[in-house]
Amino acid sequence: HTKVWNINIAEPAWQKQLAEAAERLAAGKQIAFPTETVYGLGADATNDAAVQGIFSAKGRPADNPLIVHIFDIQQVEQLAQQVSELAIKLMDAFWPGPLTIVLPVKQGVLSSYVTAGLDTVGIRMPDHPIALELMRQARVPVAAPSANTSGRPSPTLAAHVYEDLQGKISGIVDGGATGVGLESTVVELVDQQLIRVLRPGAVTLEQLQACCPEAVVTMESELESKQAPRSPGMKYTHYAPQGKLAIVKGEPQAVAHYIEQQLARFAATDRCGVLRFDEHERHYQQAALVLSLGSIHQLEQAAARLYQALRQFDEQQIQYIWSEASEAAGIGAALMNRLLKAAGHTVIEV
Ligand code: TXA
Ligand code: MG
Repeated sequence: HTKVWNINIAEPAWQKQLAEAAERLAAGKQIAFPTETVYGLGADATNDAAVQGIFSAKGRPADNPLIVHIFDIQQVEQLAQQVSELAIKLMDAFWPGPLTIVLPVKQGVLSSYVTAGLDTVGIRMPDHPIALELMRQARVPVAAPSANTSGRPSPTLAAHVYEDLQGKISGIVDGGATGVGLESTVVELVDQQLIRVLRPGAVTLEQLQACCPEAVVTMESELESKQAPRSPGMKYTHYAPQGKLAIVKGEPQAVAHYIEQQLARFAATDRCGVLRFDEHERHYQQAALVLSLGSIHQLEQAAARLYQALRQFDEQQIQYIWSEASEAAGIGAALMNRLLKAAGHTVIEV
């Protein structure tokens, strides 16, 4: 039985309603909670059995390390060593927030299941009042991957967590929809001079560069990461919808024309879906399910909608999905990164 707590931070004394979830977390149970990116599945990062429980509930491969979440910047000293000035600069600029910083791990504090045998640990302080308060009350560092079954889209609503993990975890703190909708930016620091982005997210390359003009900011290439991934999570096939997803790129009119042609061919016999931006509202009437990511000029909104849309195509048993593409600048880099993974890198240039 998985207990659900509904928390509304507009209500007085909402903090008290977190007491039971915090007690369970401190006692080694697995509790899902909202962050500003996606829902996380948390457990005491210092407790082996608690951390193992995360891997088994999610069906996650044991060699994929977990991010450790903290509620106070002072906790970094207990978890990591050789914290460089560059790291401190990033923490000051972006915490609490959607940035995970990979640092050399301090031995003997965290469960070794958290780091999956690496000598580094990814740490972040989430920017969500419920996540912070829950951890403050539990008084432990919290290992938390996204609260989905491995291989499914990350959850942006408590209902998604329930769908995937009910009966497998102790509880879910329902704090409504998450904000960003895509997982945090993960960075690794090299020699005070290089910030390597292992996973793009809401903290953009542009923001990292503006914060640290003295450092070089690079994006780990997909190719490189396939050969020798610096972030073990990169080598796993990510979420792919049950239907075949293709991204169609080109001039907007050519894209619309191509997708309409495909619908004319397939829609009579197969369940077809389209993922589009609002600017093309008039198109795609033959599709069984057309979902919008909002305006192409508001990619924050598109990011927040992506995972829910992917879940909906599966619910409606859509067999072929065509998606429009956005720019890959700013948050668009993270959006296109996740969309490309979902499509298994199938891109049609028109
Ligand atoms: O926004 C987020 O980051 C969410 C919320 C819950 O905080 N969490 C999340 O966790 O997305 P997860 O486990 O789904 O993704 C963690 C990613 C994986 O790609 C993993 O390989 C990488 O971070 N990672 C974790 N520790 C690492 C380390 N020491 N070195 C390199 N990559 C690491
Ligand atoms: Mg995940």
